[in-house]
Order: sequence, then structure tokens, then C-alpha cells
Amino acid sequence: MVAAVRVHKPGGPEVLTFEDVQIPAPGQGQIKIKQHAIGVNFIDAYFRMGMYPSPVGMPFIAGNESAGEVIAVGPGVTDFKVGDRVAYVGPLGGYAAERVFAADRAVKLPDNITYEQAAGMMLKGMTAQYLLNRTYKVGKGTVVLMHAAAGGVGLILCQWANHLGATVIGTVGTKEKAELAKKNGAHHTILYRDEDFAAKVKEITGGKLCDVVYDGIGKATFPGSLDCLRPLGYFVSFGSASGQIDAFNINILQAKGSLFATRPTLNTYVAKRDDLVATAGDLFKVVGSGAVKIPIKFKYPLKDAAKAHKEIEGRETTGSIVLIP
Ligand SMILES: NC(=O)c1ccc[n+]([C@@H]2O[C@H](COP(=O)([O-])OP(=O)(O)OC[C@H]3O[C@@H](n4cnc5c(N)ncnc54)[C@H](OP(=O)(O)O)[C@@H]3O)[C@@H](O)[C@H]2O)c1
Repeated sequence: MVAAVRVHKPGGPEVLTFEDVQIPAPGQGQIKIKQHAIGVNFIDAYFRMGMYPSPVGMPFIAGNESAGEVIAVGPGVTDFKVGDRVAYVGPLGGYAAERVFAADRAVKLPDNITYEQAAGMMLKGMTAQYLLNRTYKVGKGTVVLMHAAAGGVGLILCQWANHLGATVIGTVGTKEKAELAKKNGAHHTILYRDEDFAAKVKEITGGKLCDVVYDGIGKATFPGSLDCLRPLGYFVSFGSASGQIDAFNINILQAKGSLFATRPTLNTYVAKRDDLVATAGDLFKVVGSGAVKIPIKFKYPLKDAAKAHKEIEGRETTGSIVLIP
């Protein structure tokens, strides 16, 4: 039996239950991982509260991201051996001291990436990678608006966009978060709880507005985010931290300047193994070179997962959060 955090019924952070579970031997194509560090993400809360239904029913082990070492390999696995250092983003089951996992969804960790770094970046960093390189191709001179710039995805995306030569504008909830976002690549910050962020974007850009808005907030920043875009700009709605955007009339995109809108998810972008390996490889490269740092601001024992959820949903956290089994 190993320690794990399970959800027996949807609800608030209090439904996260610390208990012992049995982890089976790895089956065909699977590896068994002793997990050394586990990432906490906003998506973990969506599954816990039932906004995203659990594909495995109830109860389920929460969590979608971890790093650790391979302790057993199942039949048919040729790419991994016992002792390999690995990391993954994947289906529920992350909040546990051990798990079995599909070998073809794991990646090997380079020696210069620690387990904690990996747990703090696989989901958030690969998301930043595809958002900046594939959903919209950010480069020198691109003007980017990133909401929740001091959050987990936020601090990584701001650094990376800056590294690519973009001008980065970040919205944040507090002055302390503004300081942090500025230290991590944001050229301008906006306190969107106090200021009209679209008016502020107009002022900062001298009326030119942004090429792309990365919006993980959802309900609270819609349709304001559209007013931050130049004609033919890209509205990238990649999350719903404040709740999901209500259905809207697509003609609003025409009225606001022939805008493009997309609702991407990492799963689609790394569905093919080649894409997974390339996306992770790109992330390892920017982190390994020091161009992007993984700010792990909050680290808790696995048993305190509920505290981590309370804090991320209470807007109290910045950067990445990891749990240690
Ligand atoms: N589509 C994808 O592929 C993908 C992948 C990873 C993450 N995501 C999404 O990206 C977003 C960020 O994820 P994360 O794990 O890095 O979380 P996070 O940014 O560390 O935390 C969420 C942040 O959202 C802001 N926020 C604004 N309104 C909020 C509200 N009503 N309740 C809670 N927070 C609110 C808060 O920052 P302020 O205090 O500064 O406002 C908070 O710190 C989430 O929406 C997540 O679902 C999407």
C-alpha cells in the first residue's frame, strides 16, 4: 500500500482524502513510477469539483503531473528500464507515492532537470510551449497579453515570451504579483481587479493593441479580452479559473475586428508521441539553458494537497506548486 490523495465525491478542497491505496504491477506497455515530486494545477480543481467529469468514475486519485523513477516495467516496454528518471502529464492518478502509467506517454528527464522542476513545469511549461509556438507564433515584436501573469503558467509564459522577443503585458491580482511578473519577463503589468484592463492595454500600446491574448481566466475577463486585440488578432481562451465563458454570438468576433478565437488544450497538441517528445524537449532546452526558470514557490507534503487547492483557488499562490510524497 502507498499514500495517495483520492476524491470520493465532487466538492471543495475538503473532499481530497489522504489514504493508503494498492498500486498494481505494470501491465502491457506500462511502467511503474516511484514519484518524487507531484505538480498541482488548476485543472486538478476542475476534476475535484466535477467541472470536468472523472473518466474513471469515483473514487479517483487526483493529479495530472509528476516526476519520479521507474521501479518496474511491464511486458512490451522497450524504451524504459528500471532506474530511468521520467516525468509526465497524463490522466488522473498523479497524487500518489507510486503509480502505473502508459510508457508511451512518459518522457525521460535530462540529468540537468530535477524532479521538483519537472513536477513544476511539465503541464504548465508544455502549455506555454504550444501556446507561444503553435497556437500563435510569438516572435520579435509580438505584443502579448497574459492574464494571471504571476500564476503557474503565467510566470513561465511571461519569461518565455520575453525570451522570444515579445513585448509582454501581464494582468495580476495584487501589487506583489505585479512585482513578481515584472521580475519574470513582463514589461508592463495591470492590476485587473482595480483597473479597466482593456483601457490600460490601449494606453500601454498607444492604441495599437495586442496581437494575441492568452486568457486562462474565462468568465471574468470575457469579453474584455477581445477589446485588447488589434484587427485579426488571436483570442486564445485556454482556461476558466473564474468560471466558464457563457455561450456567445460568434458575430462579436466580426464586430471587434475579424478576430480569431480558439479554445486549445495541451492534450490535443501532444496527442502524437512525436509532438509530446518535441514539446518536452523544447521545454527542457529553455529551462536547461536558464532562459526560463521554474519558480516553485509552494512546496507541501502530499497529505496537504487540500491546503494547496484552497490556496490556488483562493488566488494566494504564485508560480508552481509541488507536493512531495
Ligand atoms: N488549456 C490548456 O492546455 C491548459 C494547460 C494548463 C493550464 N491551463 C489553464 O491555465 C490557467 C492557469 O493554470 P495554473 O495551474 O497555472 O493556475 P494559476 O495561474 O497558478 O492560478 C490561477 C490564477 O488565476 C487568477 N484568477 C483570476 N480569477 C480567479 C478566480 N475567480 N479564482 C481563482 N483564480 C483566479 C489568479 O491570479 P490573480 O490573483 O493574479 O488574478 C490565480 O492565481 C487555468 O485556467 C488552467 O485551467 C490550461
